Amino acid sequence: MKEIRNICCIGAGYVGGPTMAVIAQKCPHITVNVVDINAQRIADWNDTDLSKLPIFEPGLAEVVAEARNRNLFYSTDIEKSIQEADAIFISVNTPTKTYGVGKGMAADLKFVELCARQIARVAKEDKIVVEKSTLPVRTAQAIRTILDATGNGAQFQVLSNPEFLAEGTAIADLYAPDRVLIGGGEDAAGQEAIQALAAVYRNWVPKENIFTTRVWSSELSKLTANAFLAQRVSSINAISALCEKTGADVDEVAKAIGMDSRIGAKFLKSSVGFGGSCFQKDILNLVYLCRHFNLPEAADYWEQVVKMNDYQKHRFAKNIIDSLFNTVSGKKIAFLGWAFKKDTNDTRESAAIYVADELLQDRAEIHVYDPKVPAEKIYADLEYLQTQKTGCHPEGSEATRDLLNRVTVHQNPYDAMKDAHAIAILTEWDEFKTYDWQKVYEEMLKPAFVFDGRNIVDKAQLEALGFEVYNIGKGK
Ligand code: NAD
Ligand code: UDX
Repeated sequence: MKEIRNICCIGAGYVGGPTMAVIAQKCPHITVNVVDINAQRIADWNDTDLSKLPIFEPGLAEVVAEARNRNLFYSTDIEKSIQEADAIFISVNTPTKTYGVGKGMAADLKFVELCARQIARVAKEDKIVVEKSTLPVRTAQAIRTILDATGNGAQFQVLSNPEFLAEGTAIADLYAPDRVLIGGGEDAAGQEAIQALAAVYRNWVPKENIFTTRVWSSELSKLTANAFLAQRVSSINAISALCEKTGADVDEVAKAIGMDSRIGAKFLKSSVGFGGSCFQKDILNLVYLCRHFNLPEAADYWEQVVKMNDYQKHRFAKNIIDSLFNTVSGKKIAFLGWAFKKDTNDTRESAAIYVADELLQDRAEIHVYDPKVPAEKIYADLEYLQTQKTGCHPEGSEATRDLLNRVTVHQNPYDAMKDAHAIAILTEWDEFKTYDWQKVYEEMLKPAFVFDGRNIVDKAQLEALGFEVYNIGKGK
């Protein structure tokens, strides 16, 4: 297998965008073409105004500025980029299926299949095809079957190289990954392909951190890693409910158990519930696989992680309604944060969407401020949830229009909080800690409630100002 000198990445999203920018920056001798069917997204990646990049990620703009138009290119010419490439990364979205067999559980692989068919149709020379998207175990077999059916003489090697970056820290994660995982065929050609891809990463990743496995182990490791991480969050969130009943403090419990080196301190931060495009989707996919292979006990075990997360979001919303004298009808509730975590503009599966929906069903007036999420995204998230719940397109539905009319998005946090009955903190943006809480208190209706879904503000300080403060997992 020849050295990789030209890469095509199909999918210019949260994974393809940052990952390829870092490969291009660290490997100036490799040409990297990032392609997408979404022309607007590609135009945004090419925008000379770096604040217009489609993804907000600390440090990303600097990397793009260095490599773009040197050896990093964004385009919609997918076929040309496939033809020129030695290695083609598939980084397209793999959402949960919303229809037919496996609806609500299985990963929808239609975009991946389309990529495989396009590669099969266009490629005339040997290629390495890299699964960068998160895929169910044994997808490489399906991709291989499609590629091998071309009969045009080109030889393909399919590798699994899952991405472990987390949003908000993507550039740091890509610069110093805990490991790069590459799975491939066990025959000589498979091993050669693995080494060709490993050589790309060796430009900046120490060789001890590059772990090669058989392809099925690599595919399954990605789902497993996300399931384990999410399971830790659900576990500590389950304990937070018990803390609230018993007078224990979940942050103290988390610290105490995290000091045990067998448990470790990370991913034990209790919250309003995990969000993001990966955790729920990947666990549901794992559950689906377990059921498919007739392992119902294993399936039920992992499904509980998602159920616990739903419970946590619901518990937070219910506590707001209960505390506001059993109704939020007509009451102004300020939402600080809409993104699923800080330092990203991504809102997929954000807890904020579900909490807002529950309060809107109780006729609240929601006023949102998020430093990075645009208003149209917030409305689209709520509208999409109505589609999911009702099974039909909500456009024109009076109930949905009424619901969206009760949502206002602000550019200034103080406007969002002025005259509010309550503030709900949904995302842990650092700037929320720096607000003039005295001014906020003076401008709110009394009693002034704060529901801190991230445990980031100083409870004692706010209580001293007169606020009624509710945290996650802090018993009285
Ligand atoms: P995304 O939705 O941000 O980006 C996917 C892109 O693929 C979109 O721009 C879409 O237009 C494009 N696309 C879809 N079909 C295409 C086709 N046939 N041809 C060309 N372009 C096409 O998704 P993402 O967050 O980047 O996730 C991609 C994959 O990576 C998923 O499988 C996800 O599970 C996995 N992953 C995501 C993260 C994360 O933090 N977001 C981390 C690790 C792994
Ligand atoms: C996750 C995985 O961490 C990453 O390895 C994988 O590649 C993609 O999925 P991401 O979803 O971007 O990354 O962010 P992550 O930091 O894992 O947070 C996910 C959600 O869990 C967020 O809503 C976050 O606020 C929440 N979380 C995380 C907690 O509530 N408590 C924690 O201790 C950690």
